[in-house]
Formats: sequence, C-alpha cells, structure tokens
Amino acid sequence: MTDNPNVATFRVENRIAWVSFNRPDKRNCMSPNLNRRMGEILDELEHRGDVGVLVLKGEGSAWSAGMDLKEYFRDTEAQGLGAIRKAQRESYGWWRRLRWYQKPTIAMVNGWCFGGAYGPLYSCDLAVTADEAQFALSEINWGILPGGGATKVVVDLMPMRDAMYHAMTGELITGKKASEWRLVNESVPLVDLEARVTELANVLLEKNPVALKATKDAIRRVKEMTYDNAEDFLVRAQEAANSFDNDGRKEGIKQFIDDKTYKPGLGVYDRSKQGAN
Ligand code: COA
Repeated sequence: MTDNPNVATFRVENRIAWVSFNRPDKRNCMSPNLNRRMGEILDELEHRGDVGVLVLKGEGSAWSAGMDLKEYFRDTEAQGLGAIRKAQRESYGWWRRLRWYQKPTIAMVNGWCFGGAYGPLYSCDLAVTADEAQFALSEINWGILPGGGATKVVVDLMPMRDAMYHAMTGELITGKKASEWRLVNESVPLVDLEARVTELANVLLEKNPVALKATKDAIRRVKEMTYDNAEDFLVRAQEAANSFDNDGRKEGIKQFIDDKTYKPGLGVYDRSKQGAN
C-alpha cells in the first residue's frame, strides 16, 4: 500500500476508467508515493470487465508537472542508490505497464505537462490536449538532460529539428503547437476537452477489444522492425489474437458479406450479435 492513496484516484463510468493525477496543489508532479499508487490502480483496473478504455487526466490546473524535484530526486537521492533505483523502478514500471496495457488508453492533457510527464504521455495510446495546456522539456532549465525516457519520447514522436529545439531551449509550447509537433493527436479548447475524449473513448468501446489490444501492441512493436520481420510478426500476432477471439472476425465478415448490415470501410460490425449463430 502507499502512504497516501489519494495522490492518484479513479472512477469508472459507462465503461470508461477516468484515472487522475491527484496532487493539484503540487501541480500533479510525480512523487514515489504517486508512482506506487498509479501502479496499484493499473493493477486494479486492467482486467475489470466493466472497463473498456482508460483515460489519464490531471486534477486542477496541471496534467502533470513531471517528476517531483523534492520527493523523487532530492529526498530519494539522500537515501542512496537503493532508494534511487527503487523510485526509478516504480515510475518507469507503471509507464511501461501503461505502454502495454490490456485496455486502450487516452491521455487527456488538461494543463501543464513537463519533463517526466512525457513518459506517461507517450505510454498512452492516444493523446488529446487542451489548446491552453502548456508543454515543455524543462530539464535543461534546471540543469539536467531529459531522462526517464523523455528524450526518447520526443525523438520517437517529433521530427529531429523540433525535438532538438524543444530539448535544448526548454521553451513552453501550447497544446496547439504540441499537436502540430505530433506530441499528441489533437488539440481542442479546454471547454470541449472532456467531451472530445469521451467521444473518442466511445469509438474505441465499439471495437473488438481483442483486436484493439493486438493492434496497439503491433503499432509499437513493428516500429523498430524491418519490413520482413514485421510481416512475420503480424502473421503470428493475428494468429495469436484468433486464439483469444476467432468468432469476432468471422462475425465481422458475415455481417458484411452475407447479412449486408454494415460496410467495414464505413463503420464497425455489431458485436452484440457475436456468438449468436
Ligand atoms: N517538483 C516538485 N514540486 C513541484 C513541482 C515539481 N516538478 N511542480 C510544482 N511543484 C510544487 C511547487 O514547488 C509548489 O509547492 P509549494 O506550494 O509547496 O510552494 C506547488 O507545486 C505549486 O507550484 P507553483 O510553482 O507555485 O505553481 P504555478 O502554477 O505558479 O506554476 C509550474 C506551475 C508547473 C509552471 C511550476 O510549478 C514549475 O515550473 N514546476 C516544475 C516543472 C518542471 O520543471 N518539471 C520537470 C520535472 S522533470
């Protein structure tokens, strides 16, 4: 258990798990306690039947102001190498869990997003930000390099020149700019943010969950493969997914070819009929 379980919270509503960074007075910066609690929450939600999508948001004016400079860095370093490695395991650990999470995930970036927060941002499959949110790799401003994966995140997501500029200047960019630079999928006015994320979550909730998990993993895996390796991996990944749910794709084909009730190019098959014949 964590010392204070309220540093991260969640509620489940209409099959969407809304998970919150919940240290608004500290701009949701990530302490060891918060990282531990996030790990517990991910464990608790991952295989729940009433959860189809996970949204990661922040309470108050921040999404997350990155690592807690006091509790994660200074206090932990004062306890020695064992404590440093443990804090790293706990933070990197929940981000890694999130990258390969069973459910699809959406980052809903409602405000400040700095440094270490790029880790969980990247871990979420999709990201929508408020135009008004502000992003920066601020590490250079306090004298370190963007560690904890943050450098890798910007190099993976952004063109090299933008990544270099972003990391070397530490300048703030708005949500709109973050969207142009592909740190996120899209940017909308803050007043519309929750509605847009709910709409996107509902699109995902209609899809076959086995296919979604296989797809999101495949996108991350093939990025670093040669074409031939990817081709081979994808054959095997599809066959493995079929062993979890072979009826889904058969039903998808049947509703298009035989029943003519939908067109896959224009919409999704009706999963409620799956297994009915
Ligand atoms: N680590 C530790 N404490 C932090 C923090 C962080 N990353 N970010 C915010 N806080 C704390 C502040 O110290 C302050 O604590 P206090 O109330 O005990 O004095 C509190 O959160 C509120 O922060 P404040 O700076 O007063 O809020 P603001 O709204 O004026 O500014 C930020 C918000 C995010 C611009 C500013 O807090 C900031 O620059 N934070 C650091 C961001 C950063 O560089 N993160 C990268 C870490 S890898």
